[in-house]
Amino acid sequence: MSDLILAIESSCDETAAAVLKDGREVLSNIISSQIPIHERYGGVVPEIASRNHVLNLPDVIGRALTEAGCGFEDLSAVAVTYGPGLVGALLTGVSAAKAIASARNLPLVGVNHIHGHIAANYIAHPELKPPFVCLVASGGHSHIVYVKDYTEFEILGRTRDDAAGEAFDKIARVLGLGYPGGPKLEKLAQEGDSQAIKFPRVSFGDGCYDFSFSGVKTAVINYVHKQEQKGEEICKADLAASFQRAVVEALVEHTMAAAREKKCKIVTLAGGVSANGALRAAFDEAAGQNGLTLYYPPLILCTDNAAMIGCAGYYLYKKGVFADSALNAVPNLKL
Ligand SMILES: Nc1ncnc2c1ncn2[C@@H]1O[C@H](COP(=O)(O)OP(=O)(O)OP(=O)(O)O)[C@@H](O)[C@H]1O
Ligand SMILES: [Mg+2]
Repeated sequence: MSDLILAIESSCDETAAAVLKDGREVLSNIISSQIPIHERYGGVVPEIASRNHVLNLPDVIGRALTEAGCGFEDLSAVAVTYGPGLVGALLTGVSAAKAIASARNLPLVGVNHIHGHIAANYIAHPELKPPFVCLVASGGHSHIVYVKDYTEFEILGRTRDDAAGEAFDKIARVLGLGYPGGPKLEKLAQEGDSQAIKFPRVSFGDGCYDFSFSGVKTAVINYVHKQEQKGEEICKADLAASFQRAVVEALVEHTMAAAREKKCKIVTLAGGVSANGALRAAFDEAAGQNGLTLYYPPLILCTDNAAMIGCAGYYLYKKGVFADSALNAVPNLKL
């Protein structure tokens, strides 16, 4: 008999629910984005996000079940993101999942959001199996992860300051592009020359795959101030393209070096920044040169969604890793 898992995701500003069959088949994937609500503030306002999750969750969960053609009685388990993320936002999803699990006597599975981002690749690529190296580049994380098994991970590198997505968002704000910055900056960069301005790259030496993006961020801000002081015009498209190149090159080089060290033939991308076309193209090229197989999810599974949480939750469910009614939100949960 097949297993149907209802998954709930509410770690940031997307209220999402999905139903998955046997972990990898998405029967429904409902995402209610709060971007229009937070846009006017230039970023996510945590309290507003939590309140909107409370309003949205019943409808989003109902739609996920209807679209999947099932009811609570057909489910095998309920999976939910319990961290990392905004504490109030996480609590709304965790509370909803606990209520459903308790009322329907279903197993409850707590899922790490980053585990979810990695699992998005299993949905998109049925043939993909661990082990592989995954770059998780999102709004809050830049990790190079060695995925040993479906539920076992080793962090090979991480950012020492800003996450890649955070850097995109901050530079987009400096350029007056608004929120969310990543896709808007990418669009502008398409019209620019990525070789126009040289920005610094940080490396911590051989065998260390950590990132640092605060240097390039400061260099961009200093460049803007200097040009303004000199009364010289800034070509925003060149600036965006040059910044994007600096970030993409660091992500590609460190990930490829980590894959070489692990003698790993498969590399995957995950998280919101992996929606970036320049990043995908640079990884396509590097994978070809290094004889590696590269996987990345479709755009809809790169940013926050509940299907990826259902997939990660399925493998925990199969392993018998269950939470109980004491499950709490853990804002700084580690992988
Ligand atoms: N095309 C793009 N180019 C660059 N960055 C992008 C693109 N699309 C989305 N992003 C960035 O991805 C991030 C959002 O991704 P995601 O939803 O995975 O992050 P998050 O859930 O906020 O953080 P985390 O997953 O670390 O908790 C934002 O920082 C956004 O700017
Ligand atoms: Mg995310």
